[in-house]
Amino acid sequence: MISRYGSTLHALMFALLSSRSVARPLSNADVITRREDLLAAYDYVVVGGGASGLTVANRLSEQPSITVLVIEAGDFDKNEDYVTIPGLAGGAIGTKYDWNTSYAPGDAIGGRVVPIPQGKVVGGSTKLNRMVFDRGSKSDYDGWETLGNEGWNWEGLLPYFKKNEHFTAATSEIEAEYAIKDDLQFRGDKGYMQTTYSPFFWPTTKNLIQATKELGIPVNDQASGNAVGGYFCTHNMDPVNYTRSSAREAYYASAAKRSNFHVLTGNQVTRILTSGANGTVKVTGVEFATSKDAARQTVKINNEAILAAGSLHTPQLLQVSGIGDAKLLESINVTTIVDLPAVGHNLHDHLNLVVVNVLNTTILTNTLSSNTTFAAEARQQYDTQRTGPLTSPTGDFLLFLPLSTYSNASSAISTQASSSNASLSLPPDTPADVAKGYATQYATLNAKLLSNASAFLEIIWADGVLVLGLQHPYSRGSVKAASASIFDAPTADSGFLRNPLDVALLREGVRFARTFVQAPSIASLNPFEVVPGLNATADADIDAFVRGSVSTLYHPAGSCKMGAKEEGGVVDAELRVYGVDGLRVVDASTMPILPASHTMTTVYAVAEKAADIIKASEGYRVKMEG
Ligand SMILES: Cc1cc2nc3c(=O)[nH]c(=O)nc-3n(C[C@H](O)[C@H](O)[C@H](O)COP(=O)(O)OP(=O)(O)OC[C@H]3O[C@@H](n4cnc5c(N)ncnc54)[C@H](O)[C@@H]3O)c2cc1C
Ligand SMILES: *[C@@H]1O[C@H](CO)[C@@H](O)[C@H](O)[C@H]1NC(C)=O
Ligand SMILES: *[C@@H]1O[C@H](CO)[C@@H](O)[C@H](O)[C@H]1NC(C)=O
Ligand SMILES: *[C@@H]1O[C@H](CO)[C@@H](O)[C@H](O)[C@H]1NC(C)=O
Ligand SMILES: *[C@@H]1O[C@H](CO)[C@@H](O)[C@H](O)[C@H]1NC(C)=O
Ligand SMILES: *[C@@H]1O[C@H](CO)[C@@H](O)[C@H](O)[C@H]1NC(C)=O
Ligand SMILES: *[C@@H]1O[C@H](CO)[C@@H](O)[C@H](O)[C@H]1NC(C)=O
Ligand SMILES: *[C@@H]1O[C@H](CO)[C@@H](O)[C@H](O)[C@H]1NC(C)=O
Ligand SMILES: *[C@@H]1O[C@H](CO)[C@@H](O)[C@H](O)[C@H]1NC(C)=O
Ligand SMILES: *[C@@H]1O[C@H](CO)[C@@H](O)[C@H](O)[C@H]1NC(C)=O
Ligand SMILES: *[C@@H]1O[C@H](CO)[C@@H](O)[C@H](O)[C@H]1NC(C)=O
Repeated sequence: MISRYGSTLHALMFALLSSRSVARPLSNADVITRREDLLAAYDYVVVGGGASGLTVANRLSEQPSITVLVIEAGDFDKNEDYVTIPGLAGGAIGTKYDWNTSYAPGDAIGGRVVPIPQGKVVGGSTKLNRMVFDRGSKSDYDGWETLGNEGWNWEGLLPYFKKNEHFTAATSEIEAEYAIKDDLQFRGDKGYMQTTYSPFFWPTTKNLIQATKELGIPVNDQASGNAVGGYFCTHNMDPVNYTRSSAREAYYASAAKRSNFHVLTGNQVTRILTSGANGTVKVTGVEFATSKDAARQTVKINNEAILAAGSLHTPQLLQVSGIGDAKLLESINVTTIVDLPAVGHNLHDHLNLVVVNVLNTTILTNTLSSNTTFAAEARQQYDTQRTGPLTSPTGDFLLFLPLSTYSNASSAISTQASSSNASLSLPPDTPADVAKGYATQYATLNAKLLSNASAFLEIIWADGVLVLGLQHPYSRGSVKAASASIFDAPTADSGFLRNPLDVALLREGVRFARTFVQAPSIASLNPFEVVPGLNATADADIDAFVRGSVSTLYHPAGSCKMGAKEEGGVVDAELRVYGVDGLRVVDASTMPILPASHTMTTVYAVAEKAADIIKASEGYRVKMEG
């Protein structure tokens, strides 16, 4: 037992709370550890027990007559501090709960290899993430519908953003000190995901908010669909004991007692099994194994396989199952079952660029690692009172800026975009249907450049460190299975900076970071820029810095895009894979284009909506009525 609970009483209560009982004779509740404990067939098999997978599995299994199995490659975590305590969020990166994947070297970023962590654990990346819980703007979601997906707009998603969460307002101290205003019509209070504000804000958050106002940037409520300007940011955590609320605590725990809901951990789905050919392909089951050399096992499926393995592994699984670009499949010795060239294309991710200023002040976030006395005191406060620095994952106030609010170059960049060629954004081997769909996205992006309703730049403040996030990159990459084995990591091209427009958008971000720290409330802290350094002023020098140091904000998406097939869609607006009966994708890979926000909250909303779509389908209703 981990000693975090501080006292024997806490430990005992935790042990009681976490033990579950079920009617079936299994060793560990609904967690199946042996093949012989599985049913021969399930109505639905969900591949991946992360954000989207656990959400859909929970909702589908609300009906006792519907059997649902989740197969998850990772195991359950053991409530280690680094997956539990908000102030240590992100600490699971590089552990056994991380796939340890990297993007392929990128020509446009100096041949660098950028790591892309992803959760391999029950809860998926919601166990690794930094607990920023926010929504994008109305205009971003409305854009999904404009790209050809009926019903996928802000109005259509709002009920699902609300359904996901159980929101608790800030503590009265924080609410009074920072004048946080929530419009409760936009928040949910019946969902499984606990969301609230940190009860502790690091001291320079005040300077950040003041500077925002000094620069005339409005402060808005991100939950309302107006997620531009500055906003106070909620986090996915319990409002009483300030522990992480991940997909496991929310959607697994609340369904664990259902005897029709099974979870098999430590097993990777190796293939989707199908019957038939050309127009009559139908899912019959899935194959899985514990390791590359272990024996393959199978389970049958009555209704559907639901892919929720994340933006890098879902397209890989389709490809090794024979669903993808016939040319790619031939090169990896996989027999083509459905030639669907778009699988894996349209991959994009938020870019991360860090500008560092040294501040002249005490009590900075890094004091937690630099001053052991401070750290011990913080730990004591957390363990005994659930207060202090460890209750905050940081990022309590964020900026999301439309281009013309952070740069004077918006019309120049807009001219550059409209006189340039969309194909500059795409890998050379992009299939024609994908390029056609991207041309529509390109026009959307060009319109966003001049709009004040959609943000291009995020700024996350950490005491003089400004993390700049490019929210609407032009460039696209792809995911390709590297071999016929699911156990060989896929080759993922992030596309980072492929189109020089993305460099220009970040260059302007670096310039704005300098303007920002000159606002009186930050200037008073004597900021001194050490990265990239104030001698980097010429475009060429800033661009070299951008290309030499961008990395990821951990939001890969779009690689199994929802959209029309002739425009490079992999799934339709009901998330059904084209050409295969009984197969859907529900994870981040289905987003046609990233919103300007972190992705977890949107993934949950998409998955909640997906569950309702599936429940309304004939197959589900027939099973439900017996
Ligand atoms: C380090 C990090 C920080 C982040 N910070 C934030 C943040 O602060 N705020 C925010 O909003 N978002 C954040 N994100 C992003 C957010 O967590 C993801 O967008 C979200 O979890 C994606 O959900 P998903 O269902 O698509 O995939 P995941 O949640 O990643 O789930 C996929 C699951 O599928 C499993 N799987 C994969 N392949 C197989 C297979 N073949 N068989 C069986 N199982 C398989 C995986 O092990 C995993 O559990 C962060 C992500 C990371 C990695
Ligand atoms: C990732 O790397 C770490 C450190 O090397 C290792 O402990 C962990 O097991 C790796 N994760 C996986 C899923 O292999
Ligand atoms: C925190 O509180 C929630 C809700 O009461 C509970 O489910 C969870 O087990 C608690 N976690 C810890 C570590 O005490
Ligand atoms: C599928 O149909 C296409 C075109 O209609 C045809 O060229 C191909 O041979 C068919 N494949 C199979 C496996 O029947
Ligand atoms: C495909 O099979 C051929 C012949 O067996 C082999 O030489 C080649 O390495 C295989 N390719 C891959 C990617 O596995
Ligand atoms: C840092 O701040 C202290 C106290 O406010 C001040 O006395 C000192 O001159 C400052 N040092 C620098 C280098 O700005
Ligand atoms: C370290 O933290 C302690 C407790 O907050 C504080 O009293 C002390 O001055 C700090 N030490 C330094 C070197 O800043
Ligand atoms: C957007 O905001 C900027 C800065 O406040 C302003 O100059 C510009 O006119 C606005 N553009 C539109 C289209 O409203
Ligand atoms: C635009 O230029 C003016 C005049 O130089 C300057 O005051 C303003 O801060 C700039 N705006 C942005 C967003 O860079
Ligand atoms: C854009 O580039 C592609 C590929 O290089 C080319 O086929 C196309 O004609 C170009 N379009 C324009 C408008 O220049
Ligand atoms: C800025 O100065 C540093 C330190 O002297 C040097 O390493 C760097 O190359 C300079 N950068 C530019 C763009 O001149």
